Amino acid sequence: MSDYKYATLAVHAGQHPDPQTGAVTVPLYLTSTFELTGIGTDRGWDYTRAGNPTRDRLETALAALEGGYSGHAFTTGMASLSALFASLRAGDHLVCSKDVYAGTVRLLDRFVSGYGIGVDYVDTSDLKAVEAAMRPNTKLVHIETPSNPLMVLTDIAAVCRIAHAVGAEVSVDNTFMSPALQSPLELGADIVMHSTTKYLNGHSDGLGGALIGSTEEHKERFSMVQKAAGGVMSPFECFLVLRGIKTMPLRIKQHEENGMAVAKFLESHPKVTKLYYPGLESHPQYDLAKRQQKGFGSMLSFEVPDREAAGRFLAAIKIFTNAESLGGVESLASHSATTTHASVTEEQRAMMGITQGRIRLSIGIEDKEDLIADLDQALATV
Ligand SMILES: Cc1ncc(COP(=O)(O)O)c(C=O)c1O
Repeated sequence: MSDYKYATLAVHAGQHPDPQTGAVTVPLYLTSTFELTGIGTDRGWDYTRAGNPTRDRLETALAALEGGYSGHAFTTGMASLSALFASLRAGDHLVCSKDVYAGTVRLLDRFVSGYGIGVDYVDTSDLKAVEAAMRPNTKLVHIETPSNPLMVLTDIAAVCRIAHAVGAEVSVDNTFMSPALQSPLELGADIVMHSTTKYLNGHSDGLGGALIGSTEEHKERFSMVQKAAGGVMSPFECFLVLRGIKTMPLRIKQHEENGMAVAKFLESHPKVTKLYYPGLESHPQYDLAKRQQKGFGSMLSFEVPDREAAGRFLAAIKIFTNAESLGGVESLASHSATTTHASVTEEQRAMMGITQGRIRLSIGIEDKEDLIADLDQALATV
């Protein structure tokens, strides 16, 4: 399968016809348990927490799309991050990009650091800072690129060189790009993480997360954490993600075309004080985006003068919906400080550069002229 091109993998990896019935879509196995064939023998499955045929198919697809060794599906993106951090031990040290999804910061600050694991937030776009943050006990460097919502890029290959030199692994939250636009494992990363809730599902109708490992040891470790900690994706959600994956290459093309059109419109709009989209030449890391990504994606953020202006904009939008999350077919707009980044302190938001006038857009697959007209009329109220 791995020799096939991307769009073929999206339709066929893990999604072959059912050998028993010939059904061309993956059967949904809504069962908690499986009949055993004897004492200590089974047909490959014994209990759905440990494994389920529908989940197996999704995990095969995820591994193929990321070019990994094994895929592991969890209930949410946060559950997959919990599973990732579960392999750290007291005394270990973790380096994390400083402007990651605030839920990641909450998990690290409220839980992981309480287990005696040292956590440092570092501007991973600054390679000297990454180098300076390494300690002999650094076990994991977790990066999110582009970051949320500032669209700051981290040079994955360079960070991998630095981390590997001290024996640390690198995990990449690839949610914003999707497997269609960025392949961290090809750039040297060890583990990829996704909130499948976003582009992989693509229709805003299910929650999920994934880890894709690159070695047999990752496969054993993540399978064990699925079984032991139990946060596995339900067969029904697996079915939805498998269905979403088939159209992902097509969806992403339209997301991207619309993202670029909206970014170009906002770039010259007088009410927009700052705009962050890596696909514009004005983005400070445009060259890195071109080198490391296969496209620029459809996430962007911009600033209007203050919270009141942001409120007026969000009240006026008609096609865009004022909602958090991203990666679905519909366009969304959200006020970062009170949604995705409400869970961190004002001080942390200031450190991350998230002002009260910051709005994040997830550009959907509607007609781009309608989207631009909607933004134009909403910005007129600012
Ligand atoms: C970049 C990123 N990582 C992780 C998550 C967490 O995913 P979930 O909401 O599926 O738990 C999110 C959610 O918005 C996200 O944007």
